Amino acid sequence: MTISDEETQMIVDSDDEPLAPARLDKGKGKAVVVDATFKNSAVAGEEHLPWIEKYRPASLADLVSHEDITSTIERFIDEDRLPHLLLYGPPGTGKTSTILACARKLYGPQYKSMILELNASDDRGIDVVREQIKNFASTRKIFSTGFKLIILDEADAMTQQAQNALRRVIEKYTRNVRFCIICNYVSKIIPAIQSRCTRFRFSPLTEAQVDQRLRFIVESEGVDLTDDGKKALLTLSCGDMRRALNILQACHAAYDRVDENAVYACTGNPHPRDIETIVNWMLTEEFTTGYSQIKRLQTEKGLALQDILTEVHRFTSEIEFPPHVRVFLFDRMADIEYKLATAATEKIQLGALLGTFKLATDMATKPFVKG
Ligand SMILES: Nc1ncnc2c1ncn2[C@@H]1O[C@H](COP(=O)(O)OP(=O)(O)O)[C@@H](O)[C@H]1O
Ligand SMILES: [Mg+2]
Repeated sequence: MTISDEETQMIVDSDDEPLAPARLDKGKGKAVVVDATFKNSAVAGEEHLPWIEKYRPASLADLVSHEDITSTIERFIDEDRLPHLLLYGPPGTGKTSTILACARKLYGPQYKSMILELNASDDRGIDVVREQIKNFASTRKIFSTGFKLIILDEADAMTQQAQNALRRVIEKYTRNVRFCIICNYVSKIIPAIQSRCTRFRFSPLTEAQVDQRLRFIVESEGVDLTDDGKKALLTLSCGDMRRALNILQACHAAYDRVDENAVYACTGNPHPRDIETIVNWMLTEEFTTGYSQIKRLQTEKGLALQDILTEVHRFTSEIEFPPHVRVFLFDRMADIEYKLATAATEKIQLGALLGTFKLATDMATKPFVKG
């Protein structure tokens, strides 16, 4: 898919300053306006910005991960042959940041007028695809040449019908528009659209990558982050940079010193020590005692059974069980998780969890050894 000569894009130096306030009201799509509001408040006072916006990478070079993807996209841009893109992968891995950085590289500081950004919070039924996208795609900017960019964020929330309509629109406007479709689950995008795009998968960030970006932010904001605090943060964020930043900002606001306890208290996640205690109770205590002890701890610390279950799962995967017991445990825990997600009663499910561990203890032929 190449761009014809008359459609040469303007490449402006991507080292840009915040968008000039005068242009803020000119965004076409709703999402552009939302983003512009953030930029606006950046002018008013950056300290009120959520860090995920304040530290959104401005250029492709600021992204700490997926070098292979960014270098490929950069090459597309440099060679002036950007295809339609499909970026997919779990949240907080830099998909939106990547395409916004691309837009800046393509269009310079005034990139907002050249992109239409739509996400799941916008109405995206079939009419939006037909009308809003068509309007944007078919009008040309008077003062600029080249293609425009339509970013469809969280596209997996689009109906099949809307996706089918989109397929026609993509075909029709390929001459002056590039689409970037972003989603978490690529399987929810219809094959016809997948085949029209170049696909890139964004994997979760490694702890080292999250750490690298965190170090920069910790320094800029003067956060007092202890080593165990950082370790807890990295564990809880699971390669999701957005989550890492949100937790860090919340902890920094609530505590002078961000240590392990602060991180767990702030997120409401059960502390590993509590999980160890709970598992020990489940394995060794008699049923009613174990039940009331866990219930008491739950109330005391305000823990949700769902979070306990997740952590117990993590913890038990490190305990050595005979294989058949392990399979049994994990299978039952999966059931309980499913039931909890479908509005089951917590009390009953706690009983089930405890019962599962009791049965597992009976099944085990040898004593438990922590691995
Ligand atoms: N690869 C990355 N490098 C640096 N920061 C990142 C990266 N990925 C995510 N972030 C941070 O997390 C926030 C959310 O990223 P975003 O691009 O919106 O994720 P996604 O669209 O994949 O859910 C960004 O504002 C940015 O601060
Ligand atoms: Mg996103």
